[in-house]
Amino acid sequence: DWNAEHIIEELVDGVRAQVGDGRVLLAISGGVDSSTLGLLLARAVGEKLTAVFIDHGLLRLGEREQVEAALRPLGVNLVTVDARAEFMAALDGVSDPEQKRKIIGREFIRAFEREAREYGPFDFLAQGTLYPDVIESAGGEGSANIKSHHNVGGLPDDLAFKLVEPFRMLFKDEVREIARLLGLPDAVRMRHPFPGPGLAIRCLGAISEEKLDILKRVDDIFISGLREFGLYDGCSQALAILTPIQSVGVMGDERTYSYTAALRAVTTDDFMTAEWARLPYDFLATMSNRIVNQVHEVNRVVYDITGKPPATIEWE
Ligand code: XMP
Repeated sequence: DWNAEHIIEELVDGVRAQVGDGRVLLAISGGVDSSTLGLLLARAVGEKLTAVFIDHGLLRLGEREQVEAALRPLGVNLVTVDARAEFMAALDGVSDPEQKRKIIGREFIRAFEREAREYGPFDFLAQGTLYPDVIESAGGEGSANIKSHHNVGGLPDDLAFKLVEPFRMLFKDEVREIARLLGLPDAVRMRHPFPGPGLAIRCLGAISEEKLDILKRVDDIFISGLREFGLYDGCSQALAILTPIQSVGVMGDERTYSYTAALRAVTTDDFMTAEWARLPYDFLATMSNRIVNQVHEVNRVVYDITGKPPATIEWE
């Protein structure tokens, strides 16, 4: 594809002209925008780029490994930071959704600043800002808000970098095309959006290691199942939720009293409104069976059949 190749050359030249010999810092979220930016910057400035991926423990099963496997072989100088313990401590006993978001945002900036000082000094901060982010006012609901958590505003003065935003004129599908040419694996390239606060806002109420562990296994069965049955790309976003509801069930000749997990999948163009995805009953039956058989802490699975509005996509 000549056109995208050409755009890549232009972006690389533009980055080189802007940063010169300067060092560049990038926060990798694991999503397509920051991952693609990592690949582009690696091509443009090589080792002058330091990409930081903060594992806050609220990621999907195997996500850190997937990001490492996708980026390191393609020459991205990637630092992964295990910040799980500090995020868990900060979230201990917190059940209010907005409070959870605030704490995660604050902890993320704190961890990112620390790594910036550890590996710095840096001259530039790179961000995967897209054209729709530029034209829509910041802080709104929906897609423009997706990366708010990773936009790392409000850094202190000694970390006042100049911004590098090579994707400012691009749309998402153009970034995906660039990603393809730069060799980003399809699993990352075509990934559904994932919120900055991660599984914390899908584990309802106060989170714990145990609940997160249950949710990760349920989520992995659902997402892997969507891929296996060729349904993943037809959904705009799919997620599992661990509810605090415990109910009575039966297993063998024993009564159980275990959690209810919810599955949600939506189709949408802009994430401002959404329809629940009409996934086949047989597929849902297979998912339900797999979940209750493999995740013993769950004895009931429900599928969310509510549109947005009135429901949001996330449950918190
Ligand atoms: P809702 O739940 O409001 O979500 O229908 C719309 C889209 O935004 C994502 N979302 C977030 N992304 N930080 C993020 O980075 C957040 O706090 C957040 N809350 C919701 C959600 O996953 C969906 O794609």
